[in-house]
Amino acid sequence: MKAAVTLERFAAREYRRDPSSGAEIPELILQMAFAAKLLAREIRRAALVGRLGLVGERNPTGDAQKKLDVFANEVVVDAFADSGLVAAIASEEMEQLRTINCSPDASHLLCVDPIDGSSNTDVNGAVGTIFSFYRRAATGSCAVEDELRTGAELRAAGYVLYGPSTLLVYTSGGDVSGFTLDHDIGDFFLSHERVRCPARGPYYSANLGRYNEWAANVRRYADYLIEPDPTSGRPYSLRYTGALVADLHRSLLEGGIYLYPADAAHPNGKLRLLYECAPLAFVAERAGGRATTGRGRVLDLRPESLHQAVPFAVGSREEVDRFEKFAALRGP
Ligand code: F6P
Repeated sequence: MKAAVTLERFAAREYRRDPSSGAEIPELILQMAFAAKLLAREIRRAALVGRLGLVGERNPTGDAQKKLDVFANEVVVDAFADSGLVAAIASEEMEQLRTINCSPDASHLLCVDPIDGSSNTDVNGAVGTIFSFYRRAATGSCAVEDELRTGAELRAAGYVLYGPSTLLVYTSGGDVSGFTLDHDIGDFFLSHERVRCPARGPYYSANLGRYNEWAANVRRYADYLIEPDPTSGRPYSLRYTGALVADLHRSLLEGGIYLYPADAAHPNGKLRLLYECAPLAFVAERAGGRATTGRGRVLDLRPESLHQAVPFAVGSREEVDRFEKFAALRGP
């Protein structure tokens, strides 16, 4: 093991280096790390404690709700309930904004997808948590409008990937760093310093089962990716796990693109702007990558509602540029 730098030490050091990120950010990240530890434990033993399977309802975004979705949402809400730092939480699992602490001291807003890729829970596949923090609007209100901000205004964002190991990746506007959980010690340790996303491929992640429902220019882009061309390294390899966090993580480390365009079942895209796309776009950009809806930068979009979905492509800069060029082409 390398010289051990705990997440706690790292976050405090980062704040001392750049106090403009805000004194609360280290505390918020540590609180999220605490929730992630609880979730990692619960995900590992879910099959043994009856936490697999469906609740029998759909969440506010229309997805079938899993027991782990509901549990994870409670864990995250509880983790921040007494922190005194968070005024309100927007979550994939809650129809409305949940007010936590309306006093002026609660300085931040949390947006979260507690379990990303929850179709993987029952098959022991990788899942994630996506989180982001906005500084609360100066009004001191707890109104939903306060949450509807552009991703460019984010103070910090990241994700947790529960795979063979539990990895927390975050940025508070500077470098992107990754921390692996040592389950025995119970701490996250710095394992991925200054994550930089390669400018190009060789992977792509998309639900190709929807190919025939995509717009013609998106289909052409997918055809381009698998067209043999040794000079540009094509065909690219398909990697699609069913968990956005896991697929994006691969592209961030090794280069590539994740895309979820509009299709017949999701005419505005499937992924949610506020708590899925914007936080991951923030991380990707800070790592040197890009994120687009196909029509423009994800971080410039102001959500019109808590659960608004958008078409989404994220990953290596040149790959996302190319996708955007295809998406802009007109034609049948
Ligand atoms: O809802 C988010 C999500 O589960 C992502 O993590 C994943 O990439 C995608 O949806 C999977 O959707 P589908 O099953 O339609 O491919």
